[in-house]
Amino acid sequence: MIGKHYILTGATSGLGKSILTLLLEKQAYVTVLVRHPEKLKSLHQYLDKTRLTIVTCDLQSQSEILNLKHTFQGQSIDGIIYSAGLGYFKAIDQHTNSEMLETYTLNVINFNLLLNTLQPFLVSQCKIIGIGSQSAFLTQAYAAHYGASKAAFNQVLNALRIERPHYHVLTVNTGPIATPFHEKADPSLSFAKKYKHLMLDPDYLAKQIIDGMITGKTEINAPKWMHVLLRFYQLSPRLIEKYFTFLFKNKA
Ligand SMILES: NC(=O)c1ccc[n+]([C@@H]2O[C@H](COP(=O)([O-])OP(=O)(O)OC[C@H]3O[C@@H](n4cnc5c(N)ncnc54)[C@H](OP(=O)(O)O)[C@@H]3O)[C@@H](O)[C@H]2O)c1
Repeated sequence: MIGKHYILTGATSGLGKSILTLLLEKQAYVTVLVRHPEKLKSLHQYLDKTRLTIVTCDLQSQSEILNLKHTFQGQSIDGIIYSAGLGYFKAIDQHTNSEMLETYTLNVINFNLLLNTLQPFLVSQCKIIGIGSQSAFLTQAYAAHYGASKAAFNQVLNALRIERPHYHVLTVNTGPIATPFHEKADPSLSFAKKYKHLMLDPDYLAKQIIDGMITGKTEINAPKWMHVLLRFYQLSPRLIEKYFTFLFKNKA
């Protein structure tokens, strides 16, 4: 990774922040796309920030993303790590129109826009890392738009892997992580408190992701036991939803 240039989103918080720390430790050059650059001030003092470039970009804004073609003119990019994401844990009819649009725009649509915009600058064997979610693989009552957006994101990454065989596409299907994500998803924090014991450590997951980038993994499914359970669920999802409905209401 030494000397490689990666574009990272979501670097101001949670998993993205942990990934940024590790990339800089690995002596990669990192350009972060952030909407609140001031949030990065708290980055650990001991980190060498000479290889960090901060570009202000609101990933909800199509025009700001399209403008990046000027920012990266003449540069070469070895990979994109898309960690920005959001969701709302509430019923379908409780989402406002803007919450629904925000979810799909950030989680899937503008990832595609960013990919298209940066395509001319990507090296032929670049890495595309998408932070997805285990919620892509099971029915998400009370988080339907989040689950649907992550399922769509997953499909895009899987297709990209086939369409661009020279790319290394790594999908990270993660269960709950102990990050500020939950403060926005469910301000009551009832889900976060109830499942505190299951939450993954963002630093540990970030290390798995960096290792996966180095070793050429195509998927990281964490935690593994959740991935295995979801495989069984896939054998007969409607039947399981009918008889174990309570399991699908954990975000209510
Ligand atoms: N935490 C979980 O339990 C969990 C579970 C499964 C999957 N995931 C996925 O993991 C990824 C990382 O999430 P996290 O837990 O680290 O969440 P987080 O702590 O809330 O971080 C989300 C990041 O996305 C950025 N972001 C949001 N909207 C943006 C916008 N319009 N423009 C630019 N950046 C924007 C945020 O920037 P600001 O600092 O400016 O808000 C923040 O840096 C997400 O894709 C999430 O869906 C999380």
